[in-house]
Parts: sequence; C-alpha cells; structure tokens
Amino acid sequence: MNNLPRICWTSAAFIALGGMLWGLHMAISGDHSNLAAHAHLNLLGWVSLALYGTYYQLAGITRLTLARLQVLFAIPGSVIMGIGIAIAHQTGAEEMAKIGSLLVIISALLFAVITVMRPLRINNAG
Ligand code: HEM
Ligand code: HEM
Repeated sequence: MNNLPRICWTSAAFIALGGMLWGLHMAISGDHSNLAAHAHLNLLGWVSLALYGTYYQLAGITRLTLARLQVLFAIPGSVIMGIGIAIAHQTGAEEMAKIGSLLVIISALLFAVITVMRPLRINNAG
C-alpha cells in the first residue's frame, strides 16, 4: 500500500467494470430490482474511490498511514455495501448492507480528517 492514487484508480476501474456488467445484466434481463445496489456500487466503488485517488495524487499523499487506513475501509466498504444492498432487497437480510455502510462512513470520516490535515495547496501565485 505505498502508492495510494494507483491503488484507488485500479480498484475503481475493476469495480466500475463489475458495476457496469451488473447494469448491463439488469438492462438485458429487464429486472431492475437491483438498481439501488448497482447505483451504490458504481457511485462508491467507481466515482468516490476515483475521487479519493485523485485527491491523494493532487495532495502528493502516497503512503500516509491514515490515508492507507481510509482506502482500506473504502474499497471493501463499497463492494460489501453494493452486494449487501442486493441481498437486503432480495432476502430482507440487512446485516451485510449495514456492515458495508459502516465501512463506507468510517472511510468518509477519515477522508474528511485527511482533507483538514493535508489540505490541497494550489499554487496560484499572481
Ligand atoms: C454499462 C454501464 C451501465 C449500464 C448498462 C447500466 C444500467 C442501469 C440500469 C438498467 C439501471 C436501472 C434503471 C431504472 O430502472 O430506472 C441503472 C440505474 C442506475 N445506474 Fe447504471 N448502468 C451502467 C453504468 C453506471 C455507472 C458507471 C453509474 C455511476 C457512475 C451508474 C449509476 C446508476 C444509478 C445512480 C442508477 C439509479 C438511477 C435511479 O435512481 O433511477 N450506472 N443502471
Ligand atoms: C453509507 C452511505 C450511504 C447510505 C447508508 C445510503 C443509503 C441510501 C438509501 C437507503 C437509499 C434509498 C434506496 C431505495 O430507495 O431503495 C439511497 C439512494 C441513493 N443513494 Fe445512497 N447511501 C449512501 C451513500 C451514497 C453515496 C456516497 C452516493 C453517491 C455518491 C449515493 C447515491 C444514492 C443514489 C443516486 C440513490 C438513488 C438511487 C437508488 O434508489 O438507489 N448514496 N441511498
């Protein structure tokens, strides 16, 4: 875990692929009941993770321990939450969705702290 932007972007790319294939499956089958799961997997695992990676690249953060921890929560959080929402919708069992959303919220909290600790310093002289 010594290149956080790369880890974020590569994970995001593969999760996007999975999320898009899931969307394609919904479209082809005509069964859109997993819409909420697909939406969260894509928006957390693709969009949010890519944004985290972009921030780390812009802020020059590649091995900060708190950021490593943040990514360690964000990646499984998005996948567990996406799959958990599908299970919750199909079976009513919400445990996995709850665990996933907890991981997602912890990662969001850590990220908020990191933006304060290591703010972007845009060199805008002149
Ligand atoms: C090949 C790529 C994709 C396919 C085939 C696909 C397919 C679908 C389908 C069939 C639905 C259900 C629509 C409905 O019943 O109203 C849906 C919903 C949704 N998708 Fe995708 N999707 C794809 C990629 C993405 C990506 C990349 C994102 C986010 C970055 C995304 C975000 C959403 C959201 C937020 C919804 C829920 C919209 C709502 O609340 O009505 N999708 N998608
Ligand atoms: C821990 C974090 C989150 C929780 C617990 C959560 C929970 C929920 C819930 C309960 C719904 C209603 C779903 C339904 O009616 O079936 C919803 C919808 C939605 N959420 Fe989230 N959400 C979270 C994070 C996010 C994030 C970060 C995004 C975007 C980046 C997002 C985008 C959406 C969208 C687009 C919808 C409407 C589409 C749908 O029906 O699924 N959510 N969310």
